[in-house]
Amino acid sequence: MSESRVQRRRRFLVCEPRHFAVQYAINPWMHPDVRVDVDLAQEQWQSLISTYRAHGHTVDAVEPVPGLPDMVFAANSAVVVNGRVFGSFFHAAERRPESTHYDMWFKAAGFTVHRPESVCEGEGDLVWTGRYVLAGTGFRTTREAHREVQEFFGHPVISLTLVDPYFYHLDTALFVLDEDTVVYYPEAFSPGSREVLARLYPDAVLATRDDAMAFGLNSVSDGRHVFIAPQAESLAARLDDHGYVPVPVDLSEFQKAGGGIKCCTQEIRP
Ligand code: ARG
Repeated sequence: MSESRVQRRRRFLVCEPRHFAVQYAINPWMHPDVRVDVDLAQEQWQSLISTYRAHGHTVDAVEPVPGLPDMVFAANSAVVVNGRVFGSFFHAAERRPESTHYDMWFKAAGFTVHRPESVCEGEGDLVWTGRYVLAGTGFRTTREAHREVQEFFGHPVISLTLVDPYFYHLDTALFVLDEDTVVYYPEAFSPGSREVLARLYPDAVLATRDDAMAFGLNSVSDGRHVFIAPQAESLAARLDDHGYVPVPVDLSEFQKAGGGIKCCTQEIRP
């Protein structure tokens, strides 16, 4: 059955975790008293990058900046559709300087960057499905930003309300498998948003709280391979049943900051 799933090669933007640490707490996963093993984090991150490359994907990197421990979470820096870059404006003051560094990378790479007027955390909350943008709100990205994103891209933006602080970004509660399907954890959403998702995606793969707590929803799919946390074992098995090929990549050190595979991966869509 997996023969029927077609891979599309991607271009990813990442940031090495050279200065990664947990120094402040802006989500329930973060405990500044918990030590991060920087060497292990480096190893885990390098294996994510080599796994992407081994599967035919292109990976570009932004230079990490000292004093910005969350900069490794490249997904939050922007959302890029049709080569158009909608930049970021972080909720937490600690993360605000990251935007400028990513914007500089995009400019040097030949893109123009739109700077949002209200809080907006890139692909953390703005998920391009191939047809529209699913947009999370409730903890970080605002509804004003959703409107701005729709004006900017001219694609429909569908606002979804997140209700569980452990799943504070949309990309911790949902990911896109391909143009037709998503995977999500229903209880992370308000009742109305749950209904919206059920209408849009009657064939979605539904995840459990255990899958979500294992960062199984913070996965990256290329249409065939799903780069997924090994701890999300049961979800990986279900994806396999659906004809996808789970590729386990362990980013356990990053979970201490509330991040996983997708958080470390910005997609540049030409
Ligand atoms: N510590 C970071 C924060 O709370 C983690 C960001 C995770 N990124 C993501 N795309 N969910 O902002």
